[in-house]
Amino acid sequence: MSDLAREQNQPVPVLSARDIVKNYGGVRALKGVDFDIYPGTVTTLFGENGAGKSTLMKILSGVERPTDGQLILDGESVTFTSTVDARDRGISIIHQELSLSPNMSVRDNIFMGREIVRAGRVDYAEEARQAAALMAELEEDIDPLTPVGELRVGQQQIVEIARALSVNSRILIMDEPTSALSASEIEVLFKVIHDLTDRGVAIVYISHHLEEALEITDYAVVLRDGAMTAKETRDQIDLPWIVRHMVGDHFDLGSPPEGYTFGETALSVQSLTVPDASATGRAAVDDLSLEVAAGEIVCIYGLMGAGRTELLEALAGGSAIERGRILLDGRDISRDSIAQRIAAGLCLVPEDRQRDGLVQSMTVGRNMSLASISEFVRNLFLSSRDERSIVDDSIRDVHVKTDGPDAMIGSLSGGNQQKVVIGKMMSTHPKVILLDEPSRGIDIGAKAEVFKLLSERAKQGVAVVYSTSEVSECLSIAHRIIVMGRGRIVAEFGPDVSKEQIMAASGESAD
Ligand SMILES: Nc1ncnc2c1ncn2[C@@H]1O[C@H](COP(=O)(O)OP(=O)(O)OP(=O)(O)O)[C@@H](O)[C@H]1O
Ligand SMILES: [Mg+2]
Repeated sequence: MSDLAREQNQPVPVLSARDIVKNYGGVRALKGVDFDIYPGTVTTLFGENGAGKSTLMKILSGVERPTDGQLILDGESVTFTSTVDARDRGISIIHQELSLSPNMSVRDNIFMGREIVRAGRVDYAEEARQAAALMAELEEDIDPLTPVGELRVGQQQIVEIARALSVNSRILIMDEPTSALSASEIEVLFKVIHDLTDRGVAIVYISHHLEEALEITDYAVVLRDGAMTAKETRDQIDLPWIVRHMVGDHFDLGSPPEGYTFGETALSVQSLTVPDASATGRAAVDDLSLEVAAGEIVCIYGLMGAGRTELLEALAGGSAIERGRILLDGRDISRDSIAQRIAAGLCLVPEDRQRDGLVQSMTVGRNMSLASISEFVRNLFLSSRDERSIVDDSIRDVHVKTDGPDAMIGSLSGGNQQKVVIGKMMSTHPKVILLDEPSRGIDIGAKAEVFKLLSERAKQGVAVVYSTSEVSECLSIAHRIIVMGRGRIVAEFGPDVSKEQIMAASGESAD
C-alpha cells in the first residue's frame, strides 16, 4: 500500500494478490483476482462450490503456483516455491480436505516435517507436551498419542487446526475449518481466532455456514466463477448481501413436500443398541426405536456426540449392534452385510466423504457408478451399457460442476465431491436413504438442489432419514424432526416446531 494510504490511515495489507489467474488445463479456476489481507483482522471469503476459493488459498499458501499474477508480501513481490517456503515466511493453511495421516498419532501429525530436535534427536516428550498444550487451548480432551484414525472427523479437524496453530504464523488461512465441528467446538475456535487477531495475525476464513462466518468477519469478499464480485467491511453487509452476491437472486431453502400420503413403514428400528467404540461405558445408541414410512422425510437433529452417526452407521451395516432389530419393508436385515443392505434398498451417504465416500484415484464417473461396496452394487444395478447414462444423469441431477465423467475426482472442488457422493447413492435406487450431515461443505444453492432432489424422491416413495446439526435444515425439509441426545430420542416434533424448541430439546441455548 502506498505512503498516501498510510497517511490517510487506511489499513495496510500484509499480503496482497494481484490479478491472479489459475488455469487447470482448460478450466479457468481464477480469472484475474485481486485479494488483500490485513493484520489483526478476519477476511471471510464467500462463494459457491467451485467458485475458486480453495484455489486462491492454495496459491497464497504455496500449494499451487499461479498461471499469472503477483503476490506481494510486506510490500514486496514474492513467489512461493512450496508450502514450506510459504510457511517459513509466516503463512499457514488449514485445508478443507483433511490432510492427516490416520496411522500416526496426534503428536506426530502436528509435528510432521517440523520435528523438534534436541542434540540430534527428536524430542518426542517436548512434542507431546506442546501437542497437549494445543489441545488444551482448543479445549479438546485428546491424548496426543492417540492415532488420528481413531478420532471422529470433528476431532481430526481440531488436530488439523492445532497443527496450523503450532507454527505461529502471521497469516493463517482456514478453508472450511468448522464443517465437522460441534457448536461448542466452533465457539472455542472463534475464541482462538479472536486471540490470534488480537496478536496481529491476519486470518482468511472460508465457510458455507454463512451466519456463523459473519460472526467473525471484518472484511467480506465474494468470489463467483473465478472472479471477485464484491468486497465490503462487516458493518456494510448482512446475510442477504452475501447470498445475493454468491448466487444472484433471493434464496429460499424450501419447505417439506406436501400433497401426498405416506406409504407403509419402510424402515423399522426396534430397541437398537450400539456399543460405544471409545469405551465410555455408555452405549452410543441406547435402546432406540424408530419407524419411517415410505415417502416420509425424518430429520435427526442433535449435538455432536448425540449418537446420530453411530445410529446411521449401524443401520447401514457399518458397525456391529449389541441388541435390537432393523427391518426394511418388514424383513429383518440386522444380520445382513453392507452390500446386502444396499441390494435390499438401503443406502448411506456417509459423514466422511474422504474415508467412506470416494476413491480419490478414480474419475468422477467411476466414483459415481461404484457405490462404495463396489463390485456387488455394480453387478447388481448397473450393466456397463447403463452405467454411462446413469453417471450422466447423476451429474445432471445433483449439478456437479465438472468437465465430465472422465475428470479425476480430486480435481473437483470440495462441495462438488460431496455432490458426487450423494449422486452415487441416489443411483442405487434406494427405498430408504440415510444421509449423515450431507450438506457439509456444499453451498446454499447446492443445498437447495439436494433438498429438491430428496423431496422428489420422497414423493416417489423413498423414505429419507437425514441427520444434521443445523436446525434450519430440519425446518426446510422434514416432515418429522427427531432430537437425539446421549444415544436416545429425547424429543419428536412435527414440521411446525420452532427453531428454539428444537434447540432447547437438544440441551442447547438458542443464542
Ligand atoms: N487440480 C485441479 N485440476 C482441475 N481442475 C481443478 C483442480 N483444482 C480445482 N479445479 C477446478 O477449479 C474450480 C475451482 O475449484 P475450488 O476448489 O477453488 O472451488 P471452491 O470455491 O473452493 O469450492 P468449494 O466451496 O466446493 O470448496 C473448480 O471448477 C474445480 O473443479
Ligand atoms: Mg474449496
